[in-house]
Amino acid sequence: SIQTLIDPFGRKHDYLRISVTDRCNLRCIYCMPEEGMEFEPAEHLLSYEEITDVVRILAGMGVRKLRLTGGEPLVRKELDVLVAMLSQIPGIEDIALTTNAIFLAPRAARLKEAGLTRVNISLDSLQPERFKSITRGGDIKKVLASIDECIRVGLSPIKLNVVLMKGINDDEIADFLALTMDREINVRFIEYMPIGHHDSQWKSLYFSLDRVFEVCAEKGWSYEAASSLQGNGPSDNYTIAGAKGSFGLIHPISNHFCKTCNRLRLTADGVIKPCLAWSEHYQVRNVIGDDEAVRQLFLEALGTKPESHEMSRHLLEEQTTHTPTMRRMSQIG
Ligand code: GTP
Ligand code: 5AD
Ligand code: SF4
Repeated sequence: SIQTLIDPFGRKHDYLRISVTDRCNLRCIYCMPEEGMEFEPAEHLLSYEEITDVVRILAGMGVRKLRLTGGEPLVRKELDVLVAMLSQIPGIEDIALTTNAIFLAPRAARLKEAGLTRVNISLDSLQPERFKSITRGGDIKKVLASIDECIRVGLSPIKLNVVLMKGINDDEIADFLALTMDREINVRFIEYMPIGHHDSQWKSLYFSLDRVFEVCAEKGWSYEAASSLQGNGPSDNYTIAGAKGSFGLIHPISNHFCKTCNRLRLTADGVIKPCLAWSEHYQVRNVIGDDEAVRQLFLEALGTKPESHEMSRHLLEEQTTHTPTMRRMSQIG
């Protein structure tokens, strides 16, 4: 009998996010502490063969979409080799990448050839100095060059991920929206989430996304719901009248999308995480090689997947029913 990835709340899982490294060439203020973090030693990482083996098994259980994440996935050597291995697996229809794009321009063509279908690029400011301070050292020119190169090689439409933070970049909404006018780009504004640091700086920087619609009104831009984009993301999408691209809102806190969650995660060190927000996890490395054991472990992990993440409770300082994760986004993916 074919076992499918259905959780206790009836949600079907066809999307696997694979973190290939917890390392990153940047240290964005919302993702990593200034002093950096302790990274996993290389021998703790799943090899490309191990990742491919797990994906082959999961493809047999209904996984169709993959996303490679990090840390920064392009820090891992020869990522195009992994993409080529994954693209051979029957059933896999979409292999996307979430990246800060600093290293992407020179590698975009090879990744596309290897079978990469799409890229989502994190870009939280369009102002070079501000970009540098948010990322603690990043050069925005490299990101902009990567965007051009992705369009040139056909890795498009690109999605830009913009984490909006109060007092940091909330004055750039109009500038980001303007990017959608003459290019087929999907700009996605994201609410800052408490991942691994729910009691610290998060609350003071959290910014609700209603402001995006106010900015449209102030500019006299009318918009309508956009026809669906490729990908199963949690974004509500709109198009400004006359624009080639679109914009989206990802609001996990003010309006969570857990009811339709279709994603599972595999971290770089081989941990299955059924939900981004909680501490539950299962180590897959030791059972790789035994397909039935791998299947059972994923089903067991899914059995613990909570109905929702309750992240808004941290704002109200209420108790949560599960233990929040202590991993940062760079250690989850
Ligand atoms: P598409 O398939 O292209 O739509 O990608 P995606 O949106 O699933 O992936 P991406 O890596 O670009 O993630 C964008 C944002 O979605 C992240 O910055 C997070 O804010 C949010 N996000 C991703 N996964 C989860 C999740 O499991 N739970 C919650 N609450 N938010 C998530
Ligand atoms: N809240 C919201 N988004 C986050 N990201 C990383 N940390 C957070 C957080 N705490 C975003 C990055 C990247 C995506 C995978 O997650 O900007 O685009
Ligand atoms: Fe690196 Fe991405 Fe985290 Fe920024 S958000 S520090 S680019 S892993």
